[in-house]
Amino acid sequence: MLIFGIETSCDETAAAIVKDGREVISNVVASQIKTHRQFGGVVPEVAAREHLDAINIVIEETFAQAGIQPNEIDAFASTAGPGLVGCLLVGLNAAKTLSLVYNKPYLPVNHLNAHVCANFIDSDLKPPFTCLLVSGGHTQIINVSDYDKQEICASTIDDATGEVYDKVARLLGLPYPGGIQLDKLAQCGNKSAFKLPEAKVGDDEFSFSGLKTAVLRLTQTFKDVEIPINDVCASFQETITSTLIKKTVKMAKKNSSSTIVLAGGVAANSRLREKLFELENEGFKVYAPKMKYCTDNASMVASCAYFNPIKTDNPLEFEVFSRG
Ligand code: KG4
Ligand code: ZN
Repeated sequence: MLIFGIETSCDETAAAIVKDGREVISNVVASQIKTHRQFGGVVPEVAAREHLDAINIVIEETFAQAGIQPNEIDAFASTAGPGLVGCLLVGLNAAKTLSLVYNKPYLPVNHLNAHVCANFIDSDLKPPFTCLLVSGGHTQIINVSDYDKQEICASTIDDATGEVYDKVARLLGLPYPGGIQLDKLAQCGNKSAFKLPEAKVGDDEFSFSGLKTAVLRLTQTFKDVEIPINDVCASFQETITSTLIKKTVKMAKKNSSSTIVLAGGVAANSRLREKLFELENEGFKVYAPKMKYCTDNASMVASCAYFNPIKTDNPLEFEVFSRG
């Protein structure tokens, strides 16, 4: 089954063709990073307009790279939410239009479920497993008991992990998007240079506000000397990844799950991946998406449309949603 997926929930205009949920035939991503860098973050109205400018080109390029004609596609899918409404509308209407023109089903997809499905691409992963989903908007531990059965067992009570990365990066004067920049500097620093607090909240909650404040206080102690930025980044990264992994292991044990999976933009983080793969020594089977399928892309949307589309009686009537 060939599914054409579209992703426009935030600042990436992306399309992809995926066979049977696992095999990527073509994958195109047009990033708006350069546009939003001047504002230090995503400006929703600007992002929506950029999606409009890019969408047709991205769709054409996706078909061209695959050497596939639109009438060979079995279903058209798009992210319906959560995300920026004006942005989501562009992808959803493009996918619905293709579905009407070529008389094939339209499948709406939840962006978070799509991040989880990024792990099915080029892999043999099968449920059940425990998934740590860490993106710019969400931090969740999910018990995935079947392809379409996901139960959130822990989530953040304040900022999402990616958001914390981006805020700390901005505090340190790093350019948008800060997460990847911070990760790069952290790899050159001493992770034990500074002791930062791990959040003390319940097993099923994450909170990073204390850590964020601690980094702010730490930077303020370097009044007359240059901030040892690599060491600050490395210490921050060690603390946050250690919290994430510890809680995930706890939840996996609680769910009697022997497989642990990473998902979301922060799954691209070097130290988080390292710590995940160290869990193999504790007897866990571990999976993380390939780097290009961690941050927003449409292959994960097409994969999710195959394994776990949003259940609705009338998909063409299904509308975008901002929160989920
Ligand atoms: O999943 P994603 O592409 O978009 C959302 O659905 O939110 O995640 C984007 C987030 C941003 O906050 C970005 O800074 C973060 O993922 N990110 C990283 C890394 N690469 C992307 N955070 C830490 N380390 C990275 N290497
Ligand atoms: Zn995302």
